[in-house]
Amino acid sequence: MGKSDLLLELYSNLSTTGALTFSSKALVNKMLSQANIKSAKLIVELGGGDGSITQGIVDRLDPDAELLVFEISKSFCNSMDKLFPQENVKIINDSAENIDKYLNGRKADYILSSLPFSFIAPEVKDQILFQSKSALTTSGYFIQICYSYLLKNLFKKHFEMVNTSFTLKNLPPAFVMVCR
Ligand SMILES: C[S@@+](CC[C@H](N)C(=O)[O-])C[C@H]1O[C@@H](n2cnc3c(N)ncnc32)[C@H](O)[C@@H]1O
Repeated sequence: MGKSDLLLELYSNLSTTGALTFSSKALVNKMLSQANIKSAKLIVELGGGDGSITQGIVDRLDPDAELLVFEISKSFCNSMDKLFPQENVKIINDSAENIDKYLNGRKADYILSSLPFSFIAPEVKDQILFQSKSALTTSGYFIQICYSYLLKNLFKKHFEMVNTSFTLKNLPPAFVMVCR
């Protein structure tokens, strides 16, 4: 899938993608600077899309570590399957609310999300965040990029600590929320 096909898939499904552009490299770097990816053994990404965040994770990932990427669009999954043929990267065409089905009791060091929470039904949001909290190790972090500061209240319902930073180097400017 070329860049224009990826953007067409993004625009054609605005109610589930919730964005007009993919994350900039600067935003991906800002998000990933909040995590020690190299030392992680299991990472989960929610909302893989075009693979912009996935690529940043893969560039930093230990060869013995595993990355599971959840994405509901079949077209995005097919594209990411081609981009990331590595054995330790699994592209999962399922909703993030089903994380536990794929972990087999394992816990993740980081869950990195670009899910459009403002567009997701309340009961599904809560299920995703409940699943995420219980899928993390006791020292694990849930890290979210989003465009609305108000989402902090949603994350505070599920996590004790939420630290927020901001970058102008994305269209639109974005927040990175680190939750634990
Ligand atoms: C804003 S896009 C982010 C894409 C890319 N990661 C980026 O940062 O540019 C959000 C992605 O989440 C996916 N998505 C939406 N709801 C989802 C869900 N419940 N489970 C998994 N993926 C979902 C959409 O299909 C879309 O690809």
